Amino acid sequence: MDKLLRDAATRAQTYLAGLEGRAVAPSAAALAAVSELAGPFPDQGDEAAKILAKLDRVGSPATMASAGPRYFGFVTGGSLPVALAANWLAGAWDQNAFSTASSPLGAALEMTCLGWLREIFGFPDDAGGAFVTGATMANFTALAAARHAVLAQVGWDVEQDGLFGAPPITVLVGDEGHAALLKAVRMLGLGEGRVHRLAVDGQGAIRAGALPPIAGPTILCLQAGNVNSGAFDPAADLIPTAREAGAWVHVDGAFGIWAKAAPARAALAAGYELADSLAVDGHKWLNVPYDSGLTLVRDPGSLHAAMSISAAYLPDAATREPYDYTPECSRRMRAVEIWAALASLGRVGLADLVETCCRHATMLAEGLSAAGYEVLNDVRLNQVMVCFGDDSLTERVIAGIQADGTAWCGGTRWHGRAAMRISFSSHATKDADVVKTLDAILRVARSNSGG
Ligand SMILES: Cc1ncc(COP(=O)(O)O)c(C=O)c1O
Repeated sequence: MDKLLRDAATRAQTYLAGLEGRAVAPSAAALAAVSELAGPFPDQGDEAAKILAKLDRVGSPATMASAGPRYFGFVTGGSLPVALAANWLAGAWDQNAFSTASSPLGAALEMTCLGWLREIFGFPDDAGGAFVTGATMANFTALAAARHAVLAQVGWDVEQDGLFGAPPITVLVGDEGHAALLKAVRMLGLGEGRVHRLAVDGQGAIRAGALPPIAGPTILCLQAGNVNSGAFDPAADLIPTAREAGAWVHVDGAFGIWAKAAPARAALAAGYELADSLAVDGHKWLNVPYDSGLTLVRDPGSLHAAMSISAAYLPDAATREPYDYTPECSRRMRAVEIWAALASLGRVGLADLVETCCRHATMLAEGLSAAGYEVLNDVRLNQVMVCFGDDSLTERVIAGIQADGTAWCGGTRWHGRAAMRISFSSHATKDADVVKTLDAILRVARSNSGG
């Protein structure tokens, strides 16, 4: 065991040290070699050391270098060294964070992290919380609490009686709501086709005045951070109005709500603390390893009612049982990396992490604009969208930068046009990486446009 774990640690260190010098995407040859890991299920197993060596030899080169400094796809955070190290230790602990009995440490870490996270996002001290896999499940968990609460208000017990014959729920979502939020709506039986979409402005934020009159069970879903533009719905206007009319307001803040942690960006996220529930990712901007998401719910009773498997009906704050707040029963101890990341960053370090990513986005956007390319969004957070000409040219530049290997940027569509999307969410990215990335994008763009 000792030798094997030391070998794993050495291999991991070698891998991380090599990220700077390798192409961000795996080569075709490295991907072809993955077939070595396929084949029939062996009758006899092999030695652990040989298995690990093979996994490293074949697997490591086939990875996307998303832990490195120049991966800008899909709003992907890296892993802070302390969060990765905590993850290794927790792997050895192999705790089942199901309950206080199965892991007293897991339950205690969740309590501490919940306290810190409520404070960061401005939620009340007694708000309920759940540690889940990511923002999709965080949205699901929060919307299950919302579904409970808005139906309970009209005397319907959805946990007992289901949705058959239930009073209809109006779900309001901005036209630019994330597909993962709509997936959660579908999974909860609320029907994506029944969702009422709200008009948005040029940045994808819900327009002031787009809120229809609210009557009956209603859930309003806002977004803190559009995945393309980084835009925020106008929470300070919409939340009080909707809540006064009896609606439940949920916020999908997968990455953008972390703006609250950086004083210079916090105004963007003002007012979201008034929401009933919030979904946020740890594995994006907090830079903890996959997978890690969090749900916060102002009224812990609604979350408990939606998720509880215990006989006790009312939550007992003194003995919070994790299984009463999450969709899963057995699960890994996700709070451990969140605890390590927040403890090592502190308020100042967290603000710096968020601010640095935003500053890098501005640096890149300014460089692209100065070179004459069209930046499509107001770069106020960490997301940059750029066009290089018509769709076919933009798509060639995206494919070109991915093949070039200096950096990895993905594609998206914005207002009917193809765009390159560059997301700054990793602690590993330094100023020099932004310069290198800009140089590479400009080189690829010019070579594709014959410039
Ligand atoms: C606004 C928003 N919501 C939800 C998600 C889905 O998050 P996850 O992949 O962690 O489930 C994302 C992912 O980028 C997002 O940007």
